[in-house]
Amino acid sequence: MRGVALSILVFAALATGAYVWSQAHRSGPAIAELAKRPSVTDPTATSSKVLSREDLPPTGTRSLFDHLVAQADGVPWPFEKLAALVAKQDPSGAAPMTLLIPDGRSLLKGQADDAHPRLLLAADFQAPGNPAALGLSTRGQLFLGFTEQANEIEVISYNEAAGRFEFQLVQDYTANGARRLVYAQRAICESCHQGGTPIFSVRPWNETNGQPETAARITAALGSDRYLGFPTAVPLSVPERYDELTDIGNFVVAAQKLWLDRCGDAACRRQMLKLALDYARAPGDFKADGAGVAELRRLQAAAGDKPIAVPQSDIPNRDPIGEAKGIKGFFRTLFKPRVKLGDGAKTNADLEAFDRLPKLPPAEDPLSPREPKRLLGAGDIDGVYGLASLFSADDVKRLEAAAGYDWSRVGAAVERLPEDLFAAQPFSRVRLLQALLTPGVIATSAAAAPDYCCLDTAEMSPPIASGEPPVQLAAGSPIEPFAHHCFACHRGNPSKRLDFMSGATEAEVTEHIKAKPEIRDALDWERYRGTDKAAKLMPPADAPQHAALEAALKQNPQLLEQMRAVVPGLFDF
Ligand code: HEC
Ligand code: HEC
Repeated sequence: MRGVALSILVFAALATGAYVWSQAHRSGPAIAELAKRPSVTDPTATSSKVLSREDLPPTGTRSLFDHLVAQADGVPWPFEKLAALVAKQDPSGAAPMTLLIPDGRSLLKGQADDAHPRLLLAADFQAPGNPAALGLSTRGQLFLGFTEQANEIEVISYNEAAGRFEFQLVQDYTANGARRLVYAQRAICESCHQGGTPIFSVRPWNETNGQPETAARITAALGSDRYLGFPTAVPLSVPERYDELTDIGNFVVAAQKLWLDRCGDAACRRQMLKLALDYARAPGDFKADGAGVAELRRLQAAAGDKPIAVPQSDIPNRDPIGEAKGIKGFFRTLFKPRVKLGDGAKTNADLEAFDRLPKLPPAEDPLSPREPKRLLGAGDIDGVYGLASLFSADDVKRLEAAAGYDWSRVGAAVERLPEDLFAAQPFSRVRLLQALLTPGVIATSAAAAPDYCCLDTAEMSPPIASGEPPVQLAAGSPIEPFAHHCFACHRGNPSKRLDFMSGATEAEVTEHIKAKPEIRDALDWERYRGTDKAAKLMPPADAPQHAALEAALKQNPQLLEQMRAVVPGLFDF
């Protein structure tokens, strides 16, 4: 008897081992192949034609991140300063939400471990505006992922005018690095960020430092309760809120689809907006069985009853620490292909290295196609809720004030708005508010329509795609010192004013540098040091490039003169 029991045990153990081994060495399609998967559920839908799927944003539109960075004169370094830039916009002054993930599922997962966790950041506020401008909205619209070992920040932020999220990278993000801000190959990102939206796991978020065991390992590995200035442990409410923010962002994309596809004409979209504003003002008073809603349902039905898919932004929880426990865990650890820090993709361009990493179980793998979160039919009025979520409390107050606190005048004004605002175009909270707050629409006495911080692209340099090769300089090129000490802030800077070292070739860059006589003064350290013009000296005194240039001057005391010589002085003309 004992012999039988023993052999059953041995057999069971072997079977478990074999199963776990096969799971650990599972293979699957390469990510570059998955990226070719069609990313729209219905290519004939209006939204599939209207919402761009290109890597670069549609002309005249930019991501929220580009706007913020352009206004801050470039991507600040280190990451703490970038977080401070976001905090500065928040009227409460609160720091943006941050999280750590040491063993995750992102494209750069091989570059993170307990001592070098991936850092996630999300903004979470809708700022009130001022009389001249609408408030900045960031809730669910701005996310960063920083993998220090890869020197790369991933950015997902909303493009207000284009009605989509933009996928960007800050490459070579180091003290003296180029800090290139580029638009990523969207199809690659969308192989996991299916539907073009932020994604996140569900409760109880074991991968994150919201779980004490994960946090404890990070703290132990670092020997500190801070990583890059951020706490190594956070309450579980942080990943919970982060998850909500990714859901909010996800629903913005759904709202665009509902605006464009659930409604087939201007009358339907007008009705959707009217109800959305009612809901935004007083959700408790909203009558889901009222006449207005019945009218919307009728208009929606006229556009057909093809269901509209809400993308699935939730991925299952994964518990990397728990996985290693128990009998299965024993075998798992035994057979697990060994992965050490630095294996796998080092940048988002390194797909082959990513594919060489062991595959995750399909159910946990963000690359596995996910069923839609929901399918919305003609009777569903989620478009109303989705549009309403884009309006802030301050927006509603502004409309109420313009209407002299007679809300029916807002509805009447929506009826009067020009037809083209309801054409098959992306929904824009800002554009519609500007239209409603134009003098004469709600209020005759109103001042000019309010401005918005993050719409106008006239002062911005052109967007750059990630595939564009960096400029090749000949050995000993006279502009090489500019590449080391200046490019980080003056090449690819989204602010046009500061982008004066751009150009695809060495000759072009040289022309641009020559055309900027201010460089001579900015490099005249000898003359301006200690004077009231010292702040104009470059690189800025607190920038790492400044220290690097000082060190280079010790090697070559003529360096500043040689750099200035590239730019013709006034006497050369
Ligand atoms: C292999 C799957 C995968 C690919 C490909 C991928 N991501 Fe992600 N990404 C994730 C996962 C999973 C998360 C959430 C958890 C985490 O960060 O570990 C995430 C999170 C993010 C976040 C934080 C906001 C959020 O959605 O939670 C940003 C920003 C981001 N990714 C940007 C990008 C960009 C830009 C690309 C394309 C260059 C990209 N990602 C490609 C899997 C991927
Ligand atoms: C860390 C970022 C950074 C680096 C590195 C840097 N700059 Fe600047 N530079 C700035 C910022 C920010 C401004 C805008 C300052 C302002 O307007 O007050 C600026 C302004 C300038 C201006 C004035 C532009 C104008 O039109 O008024 C010149 C010229 C300039 N930089 C040259 C250089 C040169 C040459 C180098 C390399 C030796 C360099 N900068 C390196 C951030 C940087």
